[in-house]
Amino acid sequence: MEQSRKKSTGFYPTPRALAKSAILDHLLRSKKPPEVIIEPAAGAGDLLLATWECLLEKYNLTKIQIEEIVANTFAYETDETIFEVMKENIRTWLKMKKINSRPQLILSNFLLHAYSMITKVDQDVLVVCNPPWDEFTTRKHDYDENRTQRQQEKKLASGFGYRNLYQIFLDRILSIESQNLTLLFFSPRQLMGDLSAHPLRKILLDHGVCHFSVFKNSSIPQFRFDSVDPNLEIAVLSYMRSEYQAEHHAFVRRGMEQQYQPTRIHHDDCTIPCPPSNESSILMNKILSQQALSGWTCENKISVSRGKVDYQCINYADATNSRNTNAYNYETAGETTSLIVNKILPNSKRKVKAAIIKSSEPLSDSMLRISIEERELQDYLLLILNSRPVELALRSLTTNINLNNYRLLSLPAPVPTTSQLRKARDLCKKCHQGTLSWERASDEIAQDVFCLSLVEIECLRKLFPDRKFDKCGAPS
Ligand SMILES: C[S@@+](CC[C@H](N)C(=O)[O-])C[C@H]1O[C@@H](n2cnc3c(N)ncnc32)[C@H](O)[C@@H]1O
Repeated sequence: MEQSRKKSTGFYPTPRALAKSAILDHLLRSKKPPEVIIEPAAGAGDLLLATWECLLEKYNLTKIQIEEIVANTFAYETDETIFEVMKENIRTWLKMKKINSRPQLILSNFLLHAYSMITKVDQDVLVVCNPPWDEFTTRKHDYDENRTQRQQEKKLASGFGYRNLYQIFLDRILSIESQNLTLLFFSPRQLMGDLSAHPLRKILLDHGVCHFSVFKNSSIPQFRFDSVDPNLEIAVLSYMRSEYQAEHHAFVRRGMEQQYQPTRIHHDDCTIPCPPSNESSILMNKILSQQALSGWTCENKISVSRGKVDYQCINYADATNSRNTNAYNYETAGETTSLIVNKILPNSKRKVKAAIIKSSEPLSDSMLRISIEERELQDYLLLILNSRPVELALRSLTTNINLNNYRLLSLPAPVPTTSQLRKARDLCKKCHQGTLSWERASDEIAQDVFCLSLVEIECLRKLFPDRKFDKCGAPS
């Protein structure tokens, strides 16, 4: 199939090894095989075939049992060409396994036509889904046949406030009424932290238990999605709907083989944190349990705004942006200054950097300005925001390139005590005099504020060894 058609339809088949590993892991949590299987975006059938194979393997099913499951399988595909490939692949597999029943293969748009669901409330339903992961705004490759459908999908999604196709797929799946719904769902990691996916996380967590396996696309060769950005972080969600109110509703692990760790839901938007490594999970929970910046900004007259220079403006090139700001730029005394924060590219070693610049300096749109009246608070936040615990927090909460106001305010940065303010001022003074490095100063204040033990500091240093920037602001 040509590349543009693949992109337009969002045809990125699940690697068979990943599909099998994820399904077998998912089935560990179900006692019996499902009565009904739904595959809402079936593609060439890779995920569905892996599901049947795993069911055969795990439950040692008789011919009658597997034939019944196959007959109660519903697979949707909207693209006619891909649908024909799926039909052929499934026919071949059924023949090879000598299975006589036939699934319901439906050439239809799952989002637009299929969401008034075919299942009964008391049926055990398994949904397996690897939907397209496109933002509605970036579908450049659409061809005439599917453009109308895309526009209708976009209209449907914007009614709910969703920004990505995977979100509306998940929404429709969660509207299936079965009490015994289980779901295996592949998505970008943004599902765990994007504000637009908040309603979905709320439904998931209020009505069941989530197990997330997270990995970078390039990190495990046999699980790698072809033609997908190697740096993209992928989340495999294994979900069980349940009335039972467990103490933890979310468990997370890095990779597919490790043990899941319970994770505390963060902030009002139900962000599900994911540690950068399995070993840092407990430390992550400790740091994220500290007070967020939003908890004390109002009474201290701290406000956050976005930079103002549009990239089309003539002075855009001169505006301060992530490339031309040093982490610790500091203007001469007498000038009014402001603290700016930026998150930088996904494959760099450092994700957040704070700097102090002249208040009058124009700021590019991707950056945030924190206006603070008290100079001591500015020093404190400069050090804290450049610290390793905040780096850990940000990496755990999001994978986005830009740091928005909302996410900045959700970062842990507890209100300082008077002695911590004094300490921050003294540390900054020493840095200006050249007797202390900025990294060391950030470490010292963070150790105090986040009550870190020596072991925890060591763990953070191992995770983020290189905290320096060259003069362009890139890690040296
Ligand atoms: C990422 S591929 C996944 C294919 C398969 N599920 C797998 O895991 O190998 C997504 C598939 O969904 C199909 N698709 C996209 N939008 C759809 C819709 N609204 N309804 C049904 N299928 C859709 C695409 O044509 C594509 O084949």
